[in-house]
Parts: sequence; structure tokens; C-alpha cells
Amino acid sequence: MRNAIFACGALLACVASAACAQGSASDESVSMFKQMAEVLRHPRCMNCHTFTDFPRQGDDRHRHVQMVVRGPNNSGFPTLQCSACHQTTNVADGAVPGAPNWHLAPLSMGWERLSDNALCRVLKDTRKNGGKSMDALVHHMTDDPLVQWAWSPGGRVPPPLAQAEFHRVVRRWAETGAACPR
Ligand code: HEC
Ligand code: HEC
Repeated sequence: MRNAIFACGALLACVASAACAQGSASDESVSMFKQMAEVLRHPRCMNCHTFTDFPRQGDDRHRHVQMVVRGPNNSGFPTLQCSACHQTTNVADGAVPGAPNWHLAPLSMGWERLSDNALCRVLKDTRKNGGKSMDALVHHMTDDPLVQWAWSPGGRVPPPLAQAEFHRVVRRWAETGAACPR
């Protein structure tokens, strides 16, 4: 009974106070996620975050040529590793894109054809995202060389948000509770 009265009092206090701003924080969070999703769904990211047994290439996301496959460790077939061609930086004027440790995202981090809600949940799911806490996830998106490569893509089209803006949006999404769209 005491608890019920307390809860009721807290609710009334909320109605009249800034504590109720929670709804708008989560609206802001959802809107941050929607902006993030436009980057995540861009070919510069999605070509590595596939559900397929091979990487994709180009803005039309065609199957990687040269019979390149995912392989046992997401780094190609033992005799044709990604690193045979992809160096730690773009080479040949960007004709061969590169960044340190270039390889496919594991299948659990595949994002193709996911709804906003599913994409958001998969991103936060520590069983699927490589055990990343929210801090680690923010760090990854604002610091990881494979992610940052998308804004120096060797003459290819970069994602729709500028790099610094993407970083701001990711941090703000986390600060506002990392809410997912319905
Ligand atoms: C060259 C391939 C490649 C590109 C390009 C790439 N990624 Fe990834 N991504 C990976 C790999 C590999 C991992 C797994 C890294 C790990 O677990 O340490 C990963 C993991 C992630 C994760 C954490 C896992 C998850 O699903 O929550 C996020 C977030 C992410 N990438 C975002 C991006 C974004 C955003 C872009 C584009 C701006 C991008 N990546 C471009 C290969 C890539
Ligand atoms: C035989 C050389 C070679 C191997 C091996 C190779 N690649 Fe590539 N890759 C290329 C070249 C060249 C391009 C550029 C093609 C273009 O832009 O038309 C490319 C482009 C890509 C792109 C497209 C970038 C974009 O956004 O358009 C991705 C992603 C990619 N490779 C991932 C991989 C992964 C992952 C592996 C290992 C599983 C791998 N590649 C193995 C030569 C190779």
C-alpha cells in the first residue's frame, strides 16, 4: 500500500515536472537512430555487413568479383585472403580500397534488409555485436578504422552524413538512452 501511494505521488510529481521530459528524450534518441541508419545502410558500410558468403562492391552492391568468398574467419579463403589485395590504406589511387585489418563483418553483424527496429536491436545485442557495451559501440563507430574509411573511400561516394556529424549523432543517440524506433 505504501508503495502504491508512493508510486502514485511520484507519478503526480512527474506530471508537473521536467522528469516527464523522458518522452521527448526518447523521441530525440529515435530521431538520432534514424539518421544513423542512413549511414549504416549506405553501400560503404553495407558492402561489408552482409548476410552473404561474399563481400559486395560498388554503389549497386554487386557481388565481389575475383571469386572472393567470406571464408572461415570472414577474411577470405585461406589461399585468397582479403589482405592479398586490400592494404592498410587505399592504394592505386583508391582503385583498391584499404584500411587496417580489412575483412567482412561476421554474419551476426549482417544488416541487409533489416527494419529500423531490427537493425537497432541487433546493434545493441551483445550476443551479436561482439560483446560491445554501449560505450564500446560508440567508440567503435567514432574511432574504428574500417568505419572511418567510409569517409576516405578512395574516390567512392561517402555516406550521407558528414563524418563529424555522424559521430555527434551516435554520441547523442547513446546519451539520450539509445532508443530504438518501433
Ligand atoms: C571492410 C569491411 C567493413 C566496412 C567497410 C565497415 N565495417 Fe563495420 N565491421 C566490420 C567488421 C570486421 C566488424 C567486426 C569488428 C569487431 O567485432 O571487432 C564490424 C563491426 C561493426 C560494428 C559493431 C557490430 C555491430 O553490428 O553492432 C558496427 C557498429 C559497425 N561495424 C559499423 C560500421 C559502419 C557505420 C560502417 C560504415 C560507415 C562500417 N561499419 C563499415 C567490417 C566493416
Ligand atoms: C584479388 C584481389 C582482392 C581480394 C582477394 C579481395 N578484394 Fe575486395 N576489392 C578488390 C578491388 C580491386 C576492389 C575495388 C573494386 C571497385 O571499386 O570496382 C575491391 C572492393 C571491395 C569492397 C567494396 C568497397 C565499396 O564500398 O565499394 C569491399 C567491401 C571489399 N572489396 C571487401 C573484401 C573482403 C572482405 C575481402 C576478403 C574476404 C576482399 N575484398 C578480397 C580486390 C580484392
